[in-house]
Amino acid sequence: MSVSKGLENVIIKATRLTYIDGERGILRYGGYDIEDLVNNSSFEEVAYLMLYGKLPNSLELRKVKERIQDFEIPENVIHILEELPKDADAIAMMETAFSSLSSFYNAYWIGPRERALEVIGKAATIVANIYRIKEGMPTRIPEPSESYAKSFLKAIFSDVSDMEIKAMNASLILYADHEVPASTTADLIVASTLSDMYSCVAAALSALKGPLHGGAAEEAFKQFVEIGDPSNVEAWFNKVIAEKKRLMGFGHRVYKTYDPRSRIFKKLAKELKSERGGKYLEIAEKLEEVGTRHFAEKKIFPNTDFYSGIVFYSIGFPIYMFTPLFALSRTLGWLAHAIEYVEDDYGMIRPRALYVGSEKRSF
Ligand code: CMC
Repeated sequence: MSVSKGLENVIIKATRLTYIDGERGILRYGGYDIEDLVNNSSFEEVAYLMLYGKLPNSLELRKVKERIQDFEIPENVIHILEELPKDADAIAMMETAFSSLSSFYNAYWIGPRERALEVIGKAATIVANIYRIKEGMPTRIPEPSESYAKSFLKAIFSDVSDMEIKAMNASLILYADHEVPASTTADLIVASTLSDMYSCVAAALSALKGPLHGGAAEEAFKQFVEIGDPSNVEAWFNKVIAEKKRLMGFGHRVYKTYDPRSRIFKKLAKELKSERGGKYLEIAEKLEEVGTRHFAEKKIFPNTDFYSGIVFYSIGFPIYMFTPLFALSRTLGWLAHAIEYVEDDYGMIRPRALYVGSEKRSF
């Protein structure tokens, strides 16, 4: 027996959901290229694809929209969020809300796809109200509209443009799944014990919260703020290299070329043409150029988190919302993987540890 450090290259299950080719920079959900899904579909259609294995027809899409836009959550859960410190970590708040929801609902594995859509609907209410509570605004339940992205944005900012809705929809699709990173693995461990779906999401959120995983978009954006002006990029980058620090938003365990999502986020950041985000976009583009030149030999390229923060910031979100936005979208992937795991009957996850302690001793 030997230890598999970080479970690297351990295959935990087979999946029909997401395909990643790290050498060629390809990401597909259910066989569709991520670019095609972003250009042609809504988050609701992708949710149907991930949960039911095919794109919906118009009747199926109407049904999925109805269910995913059931935004009601018990008032007590909103009150629990209101009781938390205003400067609480936003993901910790989200986790508290999900743990609380598991006291109200029995989202077990009967009719799991319908349950999953309901969980995703409630996630929008939670994330929107984390923002509203932290900003000292009255709480608000999103109202159903033509799209999940629009309902979510309107619950946060009353005025939203078509371009902002388009960018939100694209972000929801881009972050919806990425096979089995740490958070999805935590989610699978909980699902494997046949615990409920809200508990699966709470566990995944705990894993996502760590700085090695979900926080990279926030950290990447903070770099742009620190740099302050495109003319400072070279000097700032040289200092990072001299101090042997990591360039956040660069590098990936699986991609050894451009993460395809980073190109789409960059395009969206440009399309948004926001006054708020414009300066940071210029800095990011310069940093991308300097960083890819320096790291080319090591095959370290921008990952999805490099430009996503600029998109979120341009829409109007503060930095602390970047990871909750990632989590909102990834709730779909967490649940789709959990359902696949339970239905394919992989059994309870129970690895072994290699004992290296003392030999038998007399007491
Ligand atoms: N900046 C500088 N050096 C880097 C970076 C980076 N961003 N990424 C990797 N390296 C170097 C690292 O120092 C090491 O060098 P050496 O061999 O000389 O010691 C080599 O590349 C391999 O690094 P590793 O950490 O063993 O490789 P990994 O495959 O585990 O790295 C990673 C993946 C994401 C942890 C890493 O690239 C990283 O820390 N990136 C910055 C954080 C980040 O952007 N994370 C978001 C990941 S994508 C979204 C998500 O999954 O949440």
